[in-house]
Amino acid sequence: QPTYLHDYQPPAYRVTHTELKFDLSSSATRVTARLHVERHPAHQDAGALPLVLNGEQLTLKRIAVDGEELEADEYAQDDATLTVHRVPESFLLDTEVEIDPAANTALSGLYQSSGMFCTQCEAEGFRRITFYPDRPDVMATFSTTVIGDRATLPVLLSNGNPVESGELPDDRHFVTWEDPHPKPSYLFALVAGDLKKVEDRFTTQSGRDVTLQVWVEEENLSKTDHAMASLKRAMKWDEETYGREYDLDLFMIVAVNDFNMGAMENKGLNIFNSAAVLTHPHTATDAAFQRVESIVAHEYFHNWSGNRVTCRDWFQLSLKEGFTVFRDQSFSADTNSAPVKRIEDVSMFRTAQFAEDAGPTAHPIRPDHYIEIGNFYTLTIYEKGAEVVRMLRNLLGWELFRRGSDLYFERLDGQAATIEDFVGCMSEVSGLDLTQFMHWYSQAGTPEIDAHGEYDYAKSEYHLTLRQRTAPTPGQPDKVALHIPIRMGLVGTKSGQDLKMTVDGESVGTDTVIHLREYEQHFVFTDLAEAPVPSLLRGFSAPVKLRFPYGREDLAFLLQHDSDGFNRWDAGQRLAMLALEDLIAAHRNGVEKVMDVRVVEAFRTLLTGETDDKAVLAEMLTLPSEAYIAEQQPVVDVDAIHAARTFVKQSLAYALRDEFMAVYRANQLDAPYAPEPQQIAARSLKNVALSYLVAIEDEEALSLAQAQFDADHNMTDVRSALTLLTHSSRNDLADPALRAFGEKWSHDPLVMDQWFSIQVTRPQADALDRVKFLMEHPKFSLKNPNKVRALIGAFASNRVNFHRIDGAGYRLLSDVVIELNKLNPEIAARLVTPLTRWQRFDEARQELMKAELERIRAEDLSPNVYEVIEKALAD
Ligand code: ARG
Ligand code: ZN
Repeated sequence: QPTYLHDYQPPAYRVTHTELKFDLSSSATRVTARLHVERHPAHQDAGALPLVLNGEQLTLKRIAVDGEELEADEYAQDDATLTVHRVPESFLLDTEVEIDPAANTALSGLYQSSGMFCTQCEAEGFRRITFYPDRPDVMATFSTTVIGDRATLPVLLSNGNPVESGELPDDRHFVTWEDPHPKPSYLFALVAGDLKKVEDRFTTQSGRDVTLQVWVEEENLSKTDHAMASLKRAMKWDEETYGREYDLDLFMIVAVNDFNMGAMENKGLNIFNSAAVLTHPHTATDAAFQRVESIVAHEYFHNWSGNRVTCRDWFQLSLKEGFTVFRDQSFSADTNSAPVKRIEDVSMFRTAQFAEDAGPTAHPIRPDHYIEIGNFYTLTIYEKGAEVVRMLRNLLGWELFRRGSDLYFERLDGQAATIEDFVGCMSEVSGLDLTQFMHWYSQAGTPEIDAHGEYDYAKSEYHLTLRQRTAPTPGQPDKVALHIPIRMGLVGTKSGQDLKMTVDGESVGTDTVIHLREYEQHFVFTDLAEAPVPSLLRGFSAPVKLRFPYGREDLAFLLQHDSDGFNRWDAGQRLAMLALEDLIAAHRNGVEKVMDVRVVEAFRTLLTGETDDKAVLAEMLTLPSEAYIAEQQPVVDVDAIHAARTFVKQSLAYALRDEFMAVYRANQLDAPYAPEPQQIAARSLKNVALSYLVAIEDEEALSLAQAQFDADHNMTDVRSALTLLTHSSRNDLADPALRAFGEKWSHDPLVMDQWFSIQVTRPQADALDRVKFLMEHPKFSLKNPNKVRALIGAFASNRVNFHRIDGAGYRLLSDVVIELNKLNPEIAARLVTPLTRWQRFDEARQELMKAELERIRAEDLSPNVYEVIEKALAD
């Protein structure tokens, strides 16, 4: 039952206008639809064709063509489609169905969340609302009437502009909305509930006056400022950077508590997971403020990259997601610290996307088949897609890239496009041949580059050899060579400066891009003034793994002298990795662990030196995560990794206690909280320093953490302190703090999510018992995706405890997956991910993990979970 890219056909019929009427009621909502249907020109001469509509879990009450009720033999229905055997070239289709929003725990289609009605239609939720050609290449204007109880549902929203409203019998009322922009069904939205709004205005470049609204439950009205400010910044940025203006008089954001993902870009009515919109200094961390800013921007940017130009089919998902992630990353970089944004993004990418590429669900940015498209909202489609767009930007340079983007938006406006359309525009404006580059979209897996370099003193030449290889991935045993742009410099070992480089007699400056297109290529840099250390893949110029046999002195040198901030950070990470690898080996062999003094000295220099960017410094002082270290190991040894990393952290803390303490004290802030770059930098630096000191359970550090918790200045500091206390062995400090925090915030679901996560990510052996205990907590619910992520998802990221050798962690996860498979398949399929990575572990753990996958396989599975499990167990 997979769907294949190569089977794509235009639809037989298209819908030009859609009229909907919703009569809302919890378990029996009536949806009346009138579709203006006509034969698609591509099938004009095909003879008679039946009309096939998608529809799931709908109770059909009425169906008529051009006003004539259909007889039972004139149409057929199964659990996924409705077929009308004979229809005219152009006609009106009327249907009426009944649906049950209260029973919708999958949160796809129309559902209820904390009493309000809301929708999630991407990718294939609209078919749970009404019978429809539910595919993105069918684009219609919509007119939607929403009817509900005046008392419980005072606010009735849909896409576009409100054009009519009024009272109805039985204390009911209605609002009619019109969206003049043709859109696919996945961008439809409806919200009804007892909501309050904050309102603001934005005047576009060309003078359109836009009303901005953020709709929330009354108690959250004080948490909307940052989202509103972010929205206005995003609107301005998109005008200035991409020349894109908003195109309606009204733009709405709604916060809902139960939501499968971050947010959704429905035309004019963005619906957000409350976690992705609500902030307050006392409830949200700096990271949460930044996440809200980037998601608000992301959804807003979709208005052009996604809505005005949409996707022809779901295989093109990265067309809108990769481009929009690239746009939101650029926005955040411009708004905050650009180097830190890049470090954070790459750090996450190299940990999680590389892991996806190395596992059984590896897929290209444009997959060629799927069973359940809901399983493809992945790091590969989103983040690797964004990296590929970033490479295009760098290949073309900003000006040509912007011209390509203008051409794309102009030429494909109002259409459903493909990735070829996008790359074609880039190629057209630049004259670049992007044929080989297109393989980035079709080939799965992470390219690995082995680099070797040699300096020829006699000739003053540097010889660099690069070899690329992409390991086989499921269904793709053979890989082609990719076009990989590698930004680089050569740093002089004497001067510490970037050297002027000459290639083939031509000067290429001190920072250049070399293009690896073959499996193996040789580059010669001539006329060098001194011996260099190469700085390769600056700014992470391509989503690859690059190995180079750096010595530790080389890395310490680059850490000091590389002119590229990103590579300076990366040199530190590589240096720490070398030390960690030794310690992992020592742990396995039962040899005494010895700390590498070069790492200590590098840290001392960082801690005592001058810095102009504290946020970057905080990143440099952060050791590679256990998950990242695991990615570098041929066989993941969970316990050795944890022991090695803890040893490095503690050794650094013992050796540099006073230095860490000085940094902590120097970065205390008195100013009122603001989520602005300077303050964020100081807080992260201070809290990183404290984390080292608490790692050795230094008494003074513990009391500083306690004091920081008690001071209750802002959530960033409180959460940091509470995490450090909870992750120490000092239950006498952790337990009272957790109790106080839990009581204080029991009314706030988003803060309680943090409270759940902090407890179940502690390294102590009781983490699993805490999960079981907290699953019974009155504030926990399997029906709320945020709670599932906060408790179960967070526990699965607790490496030592999830991978317990008795298998209890795996069992707990699979028990939850089995429950969720029935309630919310999309969340269940995501949650199972850590188990699918079984090949990466030792044999004992492999057997335990596979046994749990088999146990899940024996259930009556949703397509979502089925697809993931089959891939995970395929050999
Ligand atoms: N298009 C949304 C976003 O990136 C994601 C929605 C996906 N939803 C889902 N249930 N699969 O911004
Ligand atoms: Zn998106």
